[in-house]
Amino acid sequence: LTATLVALAFGYLCGSIPFGLIFARLFRLGDLRQMGSGNIGATNVLRTGSKPVAAATLLCDVLKGVVPVLVASQWHEAAGIVAGLGAFLGHIFPVWLRFRGGKGVATLIGVFLGLAWPLALAFLAIWLLVAVATRYSSLSALVASTLTALGAVVFHGGWLAVAVVAMAVIVFFTHRANIVRLARGEETRISLGR
Ligand code: G3P
Repeated sequence: LTATLVALAFGYLCGSIPFGLIFARLFRLGDLRQMGSGNIGATNVLRTGSKPVAAATLLCDVLKGVVPVLVASQWHEAAGIVAGLGAFLGHIFPVWLRFRGGKGVATLIGVFLGLAWPLALAFLAIWLLVAVATRYSSLSALVASTLTALGAVVFHGGWLAVAVVAMAVIVFFTHRANIVRLARGEETRISLGR
């Protein structure tokens, strides 16, 4: 039990670093909480107009999912899963921001990369496909989370599948405002190209 709690806490601490907020402040792009969707993730950094800072946010938010999983997996597989859950929850509920963090998508990709990389590849491919077709970042994340959760159940099973399904459910919860906007046709689109 101690090992599990340590893995959870370590994951949580890594996940709770709000890279988007830090980078946006560092590069004087403004306060993400007051702009666009108000979210601290890469999608909202992209709305400030800076692709490099958005890319750096994406990379670091992915890394903070990968690193704790890989470290804790050295212990045993279950510790890796718990550390991944911790990182994902740390990103969404960071103590430093009064538990109001991001939506968990980039960190989820990182957790997948550490736990079962084909899941991360599938997530990215589905995300890109839906994003190119619709240019909705949120919809892409929702579709990719759903399909990878199904994939985890079918191809993996066990605790990994339970954790992936739980995280997909939480992704729907963190995107509840996006879902309302999508239903109303009011969601903002993103520009991926030039
Ligand atoms: O990764 C978060 C994305 O799915 C939605 O972000 O800023 O459009 O709410 P945002």
